[in-house]
Parts: sequence; structure tokens; C-alpha cells
Amino acid sequence: MKKVFLAPSILSANFAILGEEIKNVLNFGADIIHFDVMDNHYVPNLTFGPMVLKSIRDYNILAPIDVHIMAKPVDSLIPLFAKAGATYITIHPESTNHINRTLDIIKENGCKVGIAINPALSIDFLDHVIEKLDLILIMSVDPGFSNQKFILNTLKKIRLVQNKIILSKRKIYISVDGGVKFCHLDSLLQLGVNIFVIGSYIFNHSNYKFVIKKIKNYISNF
Ligand code: DX5
Ligand code: ZN
Repeated sequence: MKKVFLAPSILSANFAILGEEIKNVLNFGADIIHFDVMDNHYVPNLTFGPMVLKSIRDYNILAPIDVHIMAKPVDSLIPLFAKAGATYITIHPESTNHINRTLDIIKENGCKVGIAINPALSIDFLDHVIEKLDLILIMSVDPGFSNQKFILNTLKKIRLVQNKIILSKRKIYISVDGGVKFCHLDSLLQLGVNIFVIGSYIFNHSNYKFVIKKIKNYISNF
């Protein structure tokens, strides 16, 4: 059976009780924590850095954490997030002048290698770096904020990315991030998506347990 995971994006969590928010979503069945790093330069918003990640690990949160870095320049941040406890580090190709080098830094620091693709970015560059990837994060909104509208063209993009992964014969997860709600799951599952990054649809719900179980049941039984 295909592996499918739920990754709540803590961008929509209550930061005043972040540790508890994360423990709750994990207890209710979430698989991966999605950690959005924003710098008010690459994207017009500002969030958290390696110190917050370290606090989460020190709070005994052991689940895999995907650190989605929306910051430029990015290279010098990678060792800091690796040391703080990142499992995956996912970067945007536009945030570096030298993509190969940046991906190598992620790997050398012991993390799984992810690349994020913005909605309007062409995917040709993947041919040149696919050998280095563990994860392709397909953005279904322009990065920067939670609770935006899912861009439907993403579905076409996923199909193209999936073809490239098949040709590469590598085991690379496809993750989708931005505006994902229950109504999108069916088409995304049909396209072979492995990781569902979901922020506001979970954290804006009054009952995390209910909404996580509903999503997990659907994706696990697909
Ligand atoms: C957007 C972030 C997303 C976002 C997802 O730049 O990368 O991870 O927080 O949140 P929702 O699901 O609310 O779009
Ligand atoms: Zn993200």
C-alpha cells in the first residue's frame, strides 16, 4: 500500500502554546510537522527560526519535521536548522544562486533533501537535480501566508512532476502545500501525492481530533 502522510503546518497554530498544539495534532494522528520559515524578504511575512525548532525538539517532540525555508539567502541557515532537529529541509530554487550546492549542504548536514516549486515556476530544472531529491514540495499557493485559495493549475503540475519522478526511478515523495482542504484530497490522491501539508483547515477548526481523523481515514483508506 502507498504511503500517505498528513503534515499539519504550524503556521496556523497558536504560537503562545506551540508545544501543546504540536503534541495535540500528533496525538490525534498527524505524521509529520511542517515548519514554515519566513524572512520578510523572500516572502512578505516573518515567522520563526532554528531556536524555535530546537525548543520543539527539547519539548520531546520526536516526529519528523519538514523545515520549509522561505528565506534568502538560504545556505547559511541550513546547518542551523539541521542542528536544531530538522528531518527534511525544503528550499526554494529562487532562494539560492547555486541550487546543486544548496542541496548538497542539506545532505551533508544529515537531512533529507526537499525542493519547493512555486505555482508559476517551470519544472524543467528538476531534470538537473532530481538525483539529489527525497521530496518535491509543490506549492498550491504563492508562499507567504496560510489560508489562501488553492490554485487549481497545481493539479497539472503534479502530473508533470510525477512523470519526472517515474523516469528518474527514484523514491521521491510528492508533497502539496497551500490551501489544501478536504475537498481536494480525492484529486490529489489520484495524482499520487504522498504528503498533505494542511494548516488553517486543521488549526482553524474547533475540534482538531475530529478534523484530523476525518482526513487520516480518507487518505489511509484511499
Ligand atoms: C504558505 C506555507 C504553507 C501554509 C499552509 O507559504 O508554506 O505551509 O502555512 O497553510 P494553509 O493550509 O492554511 O494554506
Ligand atoms: Zn509550507
